Amino acid sequence: MDNPSSQNCAPDESRGSWGSSVGFILAAAGSAVGLGNIWGFPMQVGKGGGAIFVLLYLVCVFVICFPILIAELAIGRAAARDPIGAFQCLKPRTPWWVVGALGVVAGVGILSFYSVIAGWTLAYVWYAATGAAGTDPGAFFGGFVADGSKNVWLSFAVLVITAGIIIGGVKEGIEKASKVMMPALFLILILLGLRALTLPGAVQGLAYYLKPDFSKAANIAVLNAALGQAFFSLSLGMGAMMTYGSYLSKKTMVIKSAAWVAGLDTMVALLAGFLIFPAGFSLAGFNPAEGGPGLIFAVLPGLFATMPGGALFGAAFFVLLTIAALTSAISLLEVPTAVLVDRGFCRRKSVMTLTLFVTILAVPSALSQGASPALSKLPLFGMDFLTLMATVWNNWALPIGGLLIAVFAGWVWGADNVVAELKAEGNPFPFARAWSFLIKYVCPAAILFIILMTARGMFAG
Ligand code: TRP
Repeated sequence: MDNPSSQNCAPDESRGSWGSSVGFILAAAGSAVGLGNIWGFPMQVGKGGGAIFVLLYLVCVFVICFPILIAELAIGRAAARDPIGAFQCLKPRTPWWVVGALGVVAGVGILSFYSVIAGWTLAYVWYAATGAAGTDPGAFFGGFVADGSKNVWLSFAVLVITAGIIIGGVKEGIEKASKVMMPALFLILILLGLRALTLPGAVQGLAYYLKPDFSKAANIAVLNAALGQAFFSLSLGMGAMMTYGSYLSKKTMVIKSAAWVAGLDTMVALLAGFLIFPAGFSLAGFNPAEGGPGLIFAVLPGLFATMPGGALFGAAFFVLLTIAALTSAISLLEVPTAVLVDRGFCRRKSVMTLTLFVTILAVPSALSQGASPALSKLPLFGMDFLTLMATVWNNWALPIGGLLIAVFAGWVWGADNVVAELKAEGNPFPFARAWSFLIKYVCPAAILFIILMTARGMFAG
């Protein structure tokens, strides 16, 4: 065994663990199911030309991301450490810990814009319930996001709620909250989906969503967006799943749990499309490609304003989004928290310090939707700061992180060691050979190809 588990990976009981498999699945699904599914996925489908994007996305999820999800959970569980410590423990005295460190940076970067959008959803629970958006929701949204201090306060509020849950610990905080929030999320989603399918735009919306238009043949930018979206949606590529895996017991059936997490995440994304497109196409002049970050905020309240019971359905929709965002923000903040806790800092103080730090980092994103003209259209990039953040982290950092994790699992730590870890305590690992093949060859090659082609496309103009 070249796995130096004895002294480097000594299990530390005080760092916390999940209470049950179901609790872990709900927490990990809570991480995965987020704004990425309900806000991001329909927006990307709109930008990527409809059903063709859906198709590419599904391929990325199952062929590239699912094997990496398994690898992250295995690395985390084997080491029982935060992402930096996990690489140090499995391959001591090598630079691989840098992958963990980059992941921590990416997590903080993602949270800095994620909390801003989560702040919008929080405010919109109130706006939808009171009908504040009125009959011109686009103008209302424009005015709302241009209010800089309001947006900073809202993202701070989101981070404080997130921190409050994380301070409670892994089992008593994260797991307990997920067990309440996730069932509520599924219930609201299904009720709203049924309502959306009876809207007048349902047929047109579904056609757009489900019938691929091959004349708009997929280009590399769409493929890159699909890959980035798959990584983002499954919370992969930066050690969030590694961290959640580090709280698993050896008894857990990791493969089965991973299948649940990926399945639930994909289902929610697809369901969100069934919700948003029929709803969008019920409105005159709806163009899914023009939505941008405001797609659901600037469009859907117009529908809620006119339909019977709209205040109720609208509020429920934004409650759904807020829950989804919170359980994901939890996992983003838990990564740097684990790093500090595993280095002996007190959980409470670590969380509070990180919360203030991320709030400061969130300010430029919060001001980038109109409050600050310079941040709202960065001269060099031709986009606003928030969109730039989302693009840098999702389309670049996460796939590159995923590539390195795949190489580490497949070649450095070794696919056989991963399989042995997951088969601990006699647990089954069906298709272990197929997994090994995917993680060693298919994942690295496919990700590398997409990244290089995207870079080439960008620099070629
Ligand atoms: N998966 C979440 C979503 O879809 C976002 C998220 C949470 C995330 N944790 C992550 C993304 C870690 C990347 C990495 O909204």
